[in-house]
Amino acid sequence: GSGKFFVGGNWKCNGTKESISKLVSDLNGAELEADVDVVVAPPFIYIDQVKNSLTDRIEISAQNSWVGKGGAFTGEISVEQLKDIGCNWVILGHSERRHIIGEDDQFIGKKAAYSLSQNLKVIACIGEKLEEREAGKTFDVCFQQMKAFAENVPSWEDVVIAYEPVWAIGTGKVATPQQAQEVHVAVRDWLKKNVSEEVASKTRIIYGGSVNGSNCAELAKQEDIDGFLVGGASLKGPEFATIINSVT
Ligand code: G3H
Repeated sequence: GSGKFFVGGNWKCNGTKESISKLVSDLNGAELEADVDVVVAPPFIYIDQVKNSLTDRIEISAQNSWVGKGGAFTGEISVEQLKDIGCNWVILGHSERRHIIGEDDQFIGKKAAYSLSQNLKVIACIGEKLEEREAGKTFDVCFQQMKAFAENVPSWEDVVIAYEPVWAIGTGKVATPQQAQEVHVAVRDWLKKNVSEEVASKTRIIYGGSVNGSNCAELAKQEDIDGFLVGGASLKGPEFATIINSVT
């Protein structure tokens, strides 16, 4: 793999003050392998609560950010505000934002550029839908999404790529280790050809989509899987710890 194993927990639009306080206390008590970067992404309104109660061992990510400097943008949260509250990461281009909210490649690319310009690190998500996979377009779709990031980001140093096939997200249908590995290799090769050999070898490519405590070990063994972006299973402290500790 490339660099330190990276495990992110995307809590999506879940939780209450009470359930989050329990999850934080479980995470604070968990024994985590030292050689893993761990990040959790609570809903915006709970970031402050989590920042003030969670161990510094785990970093905080937002699940989205505004595309430019804050101002008259009703309902949005700016990168400046995220930084102010102690957030170091943001997830951008998640399939739920692409396909449910309707964000497009260019908008996502601009968000990545702005976040990085303010030193907010980016978890850049890509991935194909089921019909795209079935039509043999998996690589085309992933490369197109990669291109939009590549055209916008000045440097890949603070970027982690998350490959999340849409058909595997929240469905219980995890990609097989071979399916994930195949796309990770292709994305790395794309980086080599279109960015540089150095970026290709250093950038972490993590997998997301129905990762859980039982399937993480096999996935983690794959040469090009450098970690995970976990949804549902990140809401359970002990299971999330198992996934973090699947580092090989
Ligand atoms: O960001 C996380 C992914 O969308 C995966 O979600 O683990 O619930 O399938 P999931």
